[in-house]
Amino acid sequence: METPREEWGSKIGFILAAAGSAVGLGNIWRFPYMTGENGGAAFVLIYIFFVIFIGFTIMLAELTIGRHSQRNAVGAFEAIFPKTGWKFIGVLGIITGIGILSFYGVVAGWTLGYFFKTLLGDFSRLSGETSFQDVFAGFIGNPVSEIVYLAVFIGITIYIVSRGISKGIERWTKILMPLLFLIIILLVIRALTLGSGVSKGLSFYLKPDFRALKPEIFIRALGQALFSLSLGMGAMITYGSYISKKDNLLSSAAFVVLFDTVIALLAGLAIFPALFAMGMSPKGGPGLVFLVLPSVFDKMPAGTFFGAAFFLLLAIAALTSTISLLEVAVAYFIDEKNWSRVKAAVFTGALAFVVGVPSALSQGASKWFHKIPLVHIPFLDFMNALFGNYALTVGSFFISIFVGWKWGTGAAAKEIALGAGGFKLRAVWAFSVRFFAPFAIFLIFVYLILTGRFF
Ligand code: PHE
Repeated sequence: METPREEWGSKIGFILAAAGSAVGLGNIWRFPYMTGENGGAAFVLIYIFFVIFIGFTIMLAELTIGRHSQRNAVGAFEAIFPKTGWKFIGVLGIITGIGILSFYGVVAGWTLGYFFKTLLGDFSRLSGETSFQDVFAGFIGNPVSEIVYLAVFIGITIYIVSRGISKGIERWTKILMPLLFLIIILLVIRALTLGSGVSKGLSFYLKPDFRALKPEIFIRALGQALFSLSLGMGAMITYGSYISKKDNLLSSAAFVVLFDTVIALLAGLAIFPALFAMGMSPKGGPGLVFLVLPSVFDKMPAGTFFGAAFFLLLAIAALTSTISLLEVAVAYFIDEKNWSRVKAAVFTGALAFVVGVPSALSQGASKWFHKIPLVHIPFLDFMNALFGNYALTVGSFFISIFVGWKWGTGAAAKEIALGAGGFKLRAVWAFSVRFFAPFAIFLIFVYLILTGRFF
């Protein structure tokens, strides 16, 4: 006999969980450093364009597939068109989820480490930018703590996922997301009042210089938009599968996209003025926020308190994202292989940990993983580009083809209209799913293949 599928406790519960998946390190760690490395404001503009015209489209497509089929990322395709190759989109999604979790867990571990460091006053005894740099380099170069923090973070993720969907996830997000939002606002205010350098930072971040625009920026901005919105790997299919038919997919998707984007833009607004005020380079790479923010907190009244609170809340925001990364694989093993939730969570989480070890060691602990053969970048950066950019982009391409051409926008639109009382933007969305999104992604890949500029 079938047990009824778990559902979110309430509509707001679903929105919070989806927003919890979307808001995370992607907004506060990845967005600022990608912006810094890729020329500033021009990147931001292209990013926003992709969020609106591709992100929202795919978000709605994924939620619709999920709610319609009420299944996991693989089973959903199988339910709509049994015995076809489409389910491999879901298989790719599961692999991508574990791939992302492996390096994401490392960076999430850094936030946990920085929580303790701030709390213990490690930063208030320092002065000057080099010393913040030294603390960071020493921290991420320590093999033991890197691996322990990764294990702790993935362990907590496994624990929460194994306790089940609504009990585990909804409770956290409800209280903590608004708090994170508040601290980011405080950070923005402090950063904007740091004096000289601020206006330079603002113009880097807000005044596009299209001469700096390189074609590679398009794939990075698109990848960042998908990464930040948790799209292209079935996370939103899986979360959508727990939504009730009475809920409004359209307004939920719109809210999540808007909220996620506002948080990312605010994070940039806190970081770039501060960064320029301190005379640092925007091309700091994955360490950027860990170098900039501790010194901003240092210059803030009650900085130890706000800094510690910030890193703790960021760790929790990362946790609500890692939960969704793991849930994609877990839902698959529960639905399709009849595994218990606990077994599925432990097995897939352990796998992500093992795959994560080279990333953890790639930031100074091991020379070999610091510059891997062929691509000559650290293993973590490689995984980040491979899974965080390319796999999500490929996944999104096939999801849009599936909905636009195989399943059909008519059938999908019917599902969307349920609980939304109609679907006014239907023609625009259908155009985007069928033509704009897949074509734009296709063009970007043709360019990449022609130039070989993948990493
Ligand atoms: N969106 C998350 C973040 O921005 C990361 C993520 C990507 C989560 C893909 C799930 C799926 O931090």
